[in-house]
Amino acid sequence: MDKYIIEGGRPLYGEVEIQSAKNAVLPLLAAAVLTEERVVIHRCPRIRDVLNMVQILGELGCKTKWVGDELTIDGGDAANHEIPAALARELRSSVFLLGSVVARFGRARIAYPGGCDIGLRPIDLHLSGLRRLGVWVAEEGGYIDCTCEKVRGAEVVLDCPSVGATENLILAAATAEGRTVIRNAAKEPEIVDLQNFLNRMGAKIAGGGTSVVAVDGVRRLHGAEYTPVSDRIEAGTFLIAAAMCGGELALRNANPENLASLVHKLREISCKIHAKDDKIYIQCGKRRLSPSLVETSPYPGFPTDLQAPMTALACICDGATVVVENLFETRFKHVPELIRMGADITVRGRSAFIRGVPCLHGADVCASDLRGGAALTLAAISAEGQSTVTDLSYIDRGYSDFEFKLRSAGARIRRMRV
Ligand code: EPZ
Repeated sequence: MDKYIIEGGRPLYGEVEIQSAKNAVLPLLAAAVLTEERVVIHRCPRIRDVLNMVQILGELGCKTKWVGDELTIDGGDAANHEIPAALARELRSSVFLLGSVVARFGRARIAYPGGCDIGLRPIDLHLSGLRRLGVWVAEEGGYIDCTCEKVRGAEVVLDCPSVGATENLILAAATAEGRTVIRNAAKEPEIVDLQNFLNRMGAKIAGGGTSVVAVDGVRRLHGAEYTPVSDRIEAGTFLIAAAMCGGELALRNANPENLASLVHKLREISCKIHAKDDKIYIQCGKRRLSPSLVETSPYPGFPTDLQAPMTALACICDGATVVVENLFETRFKHVPELIRMGADITVRGRSAFIRGVPCLHGADVCASDLRGGAALTLAAISAEGQSTVTDLSYIDRGYSDFEFKLRSAGARIRRMRV
């Protein structure tokens, strides 16, 4: 179990390259199953979730090859419809393979998906949506079995704008018979990316990024090459790092459009942020006003995936902040660890009440999920003194070269294998 050793308290200066979005690449990999032809994903990050998803594709019979950060997938020989339980438990996004596998093979079998322990994470909307599309779904002994002669287009109304359910249904509907309309669809930029990629493969999808997505099923999809959208959550993590440590950062391959809610909050606390071409520039002093209220909500609201880093930032802002986590039931596991670093936080249900302190002090802390691990790392590089952050397996799920990028901006951070 690797850990970081960090000497905190230095400002950050430099330029950081933002990776392609983990939450865009994962559904693109599921889409590759829908064609027998070759698919190429450029600038594909070699993070643990992607490597696990590539392993699942291999188990389905796809041939995969890496050349640098270019991933090629040949689905021609794919014939297995069962997603291995061990890998499904590793990876929440394995669930949206249901849509593409059942559309390709008429069958799909998967163990209940795992992923970061941030809440109940039901998949009822995925399964009820697939049933609307004519898929027979059985749930037994921790497994889900899907079968159907042919996926049939239908109207689906989601009870909540679930990202994964929207993606699963788009994947199932792309080669269905007839039209599918998904209402109350999630509007995240990663959904737009999936639409763009599938349309490049010959699909007929419109409305991605709005709450109504229409899919006219086509007989078959052909191969395609694609460069995924940049990772707005990684970019947001580095913007918050600059706000916590002070200094100036330039983020390359970053799109400020996808981060409007965070940029607004950071400007509120007196960070200077501007964008030019595909770069975002941030300049922050030592003085930070408190953001007073941060409420997570579906896109374009404040992203739940940046709640933990924002909570860490609020700990060292002047004044009080309330952070409300509306999407997941237990996404405050980073709070006890921040308190060990001197933070003043009280959690009641889905709200965290934070009183800003001048600075945090170093401590030995432990990550328990991906974004919480990133938040603890930012807290440690901004704190006075030495810290360790243990169990980097979570951070490795979603951030490529995290310590390398932070070190290149002046942070004293190194990884130690234990
Ligand atoms: C995606 O998860 C992301 N993961 C998450 O990022 C992100 O936090 C989340 O969307 C919200 O933006 C990937 O894209 C791989 P949801 P997903 O379905 O699809 C409820 C990260 O750190 N819900 O939009 O699992 C659910 O309980 C990860 O990169 C149902 O009730 O999220 C939650 O309250 C963490 N029934 C809300 O919807 C369902 O069938 C949002 O979940 C599905 C979801």
